[in-house]
Amino acid sequence: MPPRPTTPAKTLPTDFLAKADETVAHYPFSARSATLPLLHLWQEQFGFISEEAIVWIAARLGQVPIHVLEVATFYPMFHREPFGKIHIKVCRTLSCELAGGRELFETMKRLTGATGDEHGPIHSPDGRYTLEFVECLASCGTAPVCMVDETLHEKLDTPEKIKACLDTHSTGGEPCPIT
Ligand code: FES
Repeated sequence: MPPRPTTPAKTLPTDFLAKADETVAHYPFSARSATLPLLHLWQEQFGFISEEAIVWIAARLGQVPIHVLEVATFYPMFHREPFGKIHIKVCRTLSCELAGGRELFETMKRLTGATGDEHGPIHSPDGRYTLEFVECLASCGTAPVCMVDETLHEKLDTPEKIKACLDTHSTGGEPCPIT
């Protein structure tokens, strides 16, 4: 098993280090196979895959950082920047596009205040929401749809339905502040 890197692991929480050790122990014949589990572990603990994550995981597994980076950038579920507390994924594939997916996205932008380059995730200034386009969410018959965290919301074809959808996910039970 490759040795633990000495830096920057000194600053990492001991519970994280223990979980990382346990994860790597499941792959005695190929430490590199622990790349995905360690990326998940890191994101669960710290919210996104930073440069520090890439360097630390590579060192922990005895790999070069590019091997970790190529995995982290291949899978869209890994975040390369801090995300808001609520993650909204709006489908932009054909059925949703024709049924109002763009309007759904624009309404979500207005309600959350998220801004930025729509080729990637965009964030609200209060850190509450992250909004992004994704490909088909496998619910084409009920377009337009979005996922808010782990929940699928269907037929979001009016501003009222979109607002109600956001309200069900607001932190602390408060409604979305913008009407
Ligand atoms: S096209 Fe949107 S769910 Fe399939």
